[in-house]
Amino acid sequence: MSATWRRLLRYFRPHAGKLALALVLLALHSAIPGLLVLLIERVLDDVLIQQDQALLRVLPVAVVALYAANGTLGFARGMLTRSVSWAVITQLRGELFDALLHQDVAWHQTHPTGGLLSRLTQDTDNVQYGVSAVVTAIQKPLTLAAILGAAATMSVELTALAVLVLPLVIWPIQRFGRRLRDRTRASLDNLADLSGVATEALTGIRTVQRHGGEAGRGSAFEVQNRLQERLRLQAHAARLMPSPIIEIIAAVGVAIVLWVGGARVVAGDMQPGELIAFLVALGLLNPPLKGLAEVHSLAQRARAGAERVFEIIDRAPAIPDTGTVRLDVGEAALAFEAVTFDYGDAPVLQGLSLSVPPGRTVALVGASGSGKSTAAALVSRLYDPTGGRLTLAGHDLRDLTLTSLRRHVAVVAQEPFLFDDTVAANIALGRPDAPRADVIAAARVANAHDFVSALPQGYDTRIDELGLRLSGGQRQRICIARAVLRDAPVLVLDEATSALDAESEFAVQEALDRLSADRTVLAIAHRLSTIRDADEIVVLDHGRVVERGRHADLLALDGTYAALVRRQG
Ligand SMILES: Nc1ncnc2c1ncn2[C@@H]1O[C@H](COP(=O)(O)OP(=O)(O)OP(=O)(O)O)[C@@H](O)[C@H]1O
Ligand SMILES: [Mg+2]
Repeated sequence: MSATWRRLLRYFRPHAGKLALALVLLALHSAIPGLLVLLIERVLDDVLIQQDQALLRVLPVAVVALYAANGTLGFARGMLTRSVSWAVITQLRGELFDALLHQDVAWHQTHPTGGLLSRLTQDTDNVQYGVSAVVTAIQKPLTLAAILGAAATMSVELTALAVLVLPLVIWPIQRFGRRLRDRTRASLDNLADLSGVATEALTGIRTVQRHGGEAGRGSAFEVQNRLQERLRLQAHAARLMPSPIIEIIAAVGVAIVLWVGGARVVAGDMQPGELIAFLVALGLLNPPLKGLAEVHSLAQRARAGAERVFEIIDRAPAIPDTGTVRLDVGEAALAFEAVTFDYGDAPVLQGLSLSVPPGRTVALVGASGSGKSTAAALVSRLYDPTGGRLTLAGHDLRDLTLTSLRRHVAVVAQEPFLFDDTVAANIALGRPDAPRADVIAAARVANAHDFVSALPQGYDTRIDELGLRLSGGQRQRICIARAVLRDAPVLVLDEATSALDAESEFAVQEALDRLSADRTVLAIAHRLSTIRDADEIVVLDHGRVVERGRHADLLALDGTYAALVRRQG
C-alpha cells in the first residue's frame, strides 16, 4: 500500500464503528448473489427437472425476499459508507484550507488563487470518489468468494479451473491503474492552471473589457481547455481499458469450463442443471471483477488527488511560527535594525534602520518602488528580512508568536479589501466575537458610522449586495474601522489616502489622526501634507535611507524630500 493511502486511512480511525457496521452489511449484501446461484440450481434441478411442487410455492417468495434484502442492504450500506467518506473529505478539505490560510504570501504569489481553489474542490472530489469506492471495494472480494463458494458446492474441480485464470486479471488492473493515476494527476494540474486563467480574467473583467482583452484572455483559456480535454480522454481510456481485457480473460475461463464440464455431462458424470448453474455463476463473477478494476482506478484517482492535497498540508510556511514570546503590552517601540530584503532578485531594502518610540509617528517617504510597502509588509511578517532584524518592544519579531505579533500590529493598506460578508463582519475581521457596541464605536472613530447607518440593513448589510456601490473612501473607512477595532499599539498606514478626493481624504485623514493618537505609527504617504507633523521622516531611495529628520529640517536641507514636496505643490 502506498504511503499516501496509509495516511488517508488514518483519517478513517474516528469512524471505525460506522465502518465496522458497514462491513457487516457488506458481508450480508455480498452473500446474496451466492444465494441466488443456489436458488437457480434448485429451480433448474428440483422444480423443472424433478417437478417438486412444494418448492415451487416457496421459490417465488424467496426470490422477492432476496431482492428486497438486496435493495435494503445496498441502500443502508451505501449511505453508511458515503457518510464516512464525506466526513473524511470534510476533514481533509478543512485541513487543506487551514494550510492555505497559513502559507506565506510569497508562496501564494506563485500559486494563483484559481489553481488553489481547484485543489479545494476537484482534488478533494477525486479523493472522495476513491475513498467511497475503496470502502465499498471490500465487497468485491467477498462477492467473488461467495460466488466461488456456491460454485464449489457444485463442482470443486471446475471451480479450481475457473480460479486458475483469475490471477490473470491483475495485470490489466495494475498496468492501466498506473497510467490512470498519472493522467489524473496531469489533468488536475492542468485544471488548476485552467481555473487560474479563468479566475484572473474574471476578477479583472473591467480591465479585460476596457482594453479589448477578451480575445487574448479567451485564447489563453482555450489552450488550457483543449489540454484538459485531451488529458481527460487519456485518463478515461486508461479507466475503460481493463474492462474488455477482463471480459476476454473471463471468456477463456468459461471456455475451459464448457469444454471440461460439457464432456462430463455427455459422460453422465454431471447433471445438465449443475453445469448451467455453474456457467451462470461464472457469469456472475464478471461484475465484481470489473468492479474491482473500477475500484482500483478510483483509488488511483484518489491517490493522485490526495498527493496534491498532502503536498500543501505538509508544506512548512516560509514564515515559521516558532517564536515563543507572548507579548501583551499596551504600547511598544518598533524598530528596523539594518534590515535588508529582496524578493529573490534585486535588493529592495538595503540596510534600513529606523525606530519608532512608543506613541510616536515615523513617516516613510520616497519615490515609487523605493521599498516603502515592502518595509510595511515586514512589520506584519508577511516576509522575513534577509538580513538585519525588526524588533517590537525590544524582541526580534521572529521570537514572538505570530499571533502575538499580529495582535500588536494593525495595518491600513492602500488597497481596501472587503469580504463578501456583512459590514459588521468586515469590521470585526480580526475579532469575530466583538460585541456590536465595539464595532459601532470603531466605525465612529473611522468616520464610517454615518454612512453605514444609512445603508439598507445598517451594519448587517452585506457588502456583496452593495456590489461596487461603496466609494473608495467609504471602503477605506471600513478598513480603518477594522484597524481601530484591532486596538493594537502599533499602527502601519500604507498610503491610506492616496486614491481619494479632497472631501473623503479629509474624512479619512481625520479618522487616521484619531486612530494614530497615542499609538506607535509607521506612516507611509504619497501626500506629504499628511505626515508634516511626524516625529521623524525617513526618506528612502532604492531601499536606502538618503535623508531623515523633521519636516522643517528636511525642507531646509533642500534635498530629495524638498524636491518631492515641491513636485506636489
Ligand atoms: N511581491 C513582490 N514580488 C516581487 N517584487 C516586488 C513585490 N512587491 C514589490 N516588489 C518590488 O520591490 C520594489 C519595492 O516595491 P514597494 O512596493 O515596496 O515600493 P513602494 O515604495 O511601496 O512603491 P509605491 O510608492 O509605488 O507604492 C519594487 O521594485 C517592486 O517592483
Ligand atoms: Mg507601496
